[in-house]
Amino acid sequence: MRQYRIDTTEYSIQAPFNMRIAFPSDFHNGDHVRILRKIRDWKPDIILMPGDLVKGYYPKDGRLVVEHSERILPFLRGCVQIAPTYFSYGNHECLLCEEDIELLRSTGITILDNEWIELPETGGQRILLGGLTSGHVISFRRFRNQSDSTDRYPVRRKPHNVYELRTESKWLDDFEKEEGYKILLSHHPEYWRMREPYIAGRRIDLTLSGHAHGGQWRFFGQGILAPGQGLFPKYVRGIHQGDGPEAGKMVVSAGLNNTYWMFPRFGNPCELIFIELNNN
Ligand SMILES: [Fe+2]
Repeated sequence: MRQYRIDTTEYSIQAPFNMRIAFPSDFHNGDHVRILRKIRDWKPDIILMPGDLVKGYYPKDGRLVVEHSERILPFLRGCVQIAPTYFSYGNHECLLCEEDIELLRSTGITILDNEWIELPETGGQRILLGGLTSGHVISFRRFRNQSDSTDRYPVRRKPHNVYELRTESKWLDDFEKEEGYKILLSHHPEYWRMREPYIAGRRIDLTLSGHAHGGQWRFFGQGILAPGQGLFPKYVRGIHQGDGPEAGKMVVSAGLNNTYWMFPRFGNPCELIFIELNNN
C-alpha cells in the first residue's frame, strides 16, 4: 500500500499502578506492518482499540467485510502476539454480520460490546475495562433484526435516523460505581460532553476515543470538521479533563488511517498513541 505519515504520540498519566498501553484507534484497514512494528518496539502490557477497524462499505465480490478489508485479521493476529488486545465497536463496525464478528474473535482479541470486565493478572490492583458500543451499531442491529431478508448484510444503507439514535449506556451507571481504576473504550469523543452518556461527568478514570480523525483538515492547530461534532470540533485529538473531583481524562486519537480517499487529510497526520500509566 502507499506509504502515508503516521506520527507517534506518548502520554504519561498518573495512576495508582504502572501500565503501558498501546492505543491504536481507527485502523480502517491501514498499514498493519508499520503499525505492528511500532507497537512491538514499544513493548506494551496491553493493547486497547476503541473501534473502526473496517472501512465503511460492503464488498461487491461476495467476501465478508473483514476479509475484504484484508489487513484487519493479520493486524489483530499480530496485536495478540504482542499483548492482550481489547476492542470496542466504532460506527464503521455497524456493517458487520455474525460471521465477521466470529472472524474477529478467532484472532484472540476480546470484544467488549456494552460491557465491562476485570483485567486479570494486575498484581492485586483492581482494573476494570469497559467498551461502549457506537450508537450506529445499535441502530443497524435494530434494523437488521427487523429485516426478514436472508442476505448476510440486509441493511445496506444507513437507516435515515441513525444519527438520532443513542447508544445503550445504562450499564455505565453501574460501571462508574464500581471500585477500582476504570478505563473505558468509547469510539465517539462527542459522548464526552456533547451527547449522552456525557462521560466527562462520570467516575471513569480514563476514556479512550477516536473517530474524529483530528478534524480532517487542520489549520493553526484547529481541526475543521468532525462527524458528530460539526464545524470547528473540540474533541478531535489530545487529552481532555473531565468535570468534578472524581472525573478522569479522555485521550482522543487522530486515528491510524483515512476513511475516504476523496477527503484527504491536511496538516493532520495519522496518529498512534502510547500511554504510560505510572504511580511515580
Ligand atoms: Fe468512526
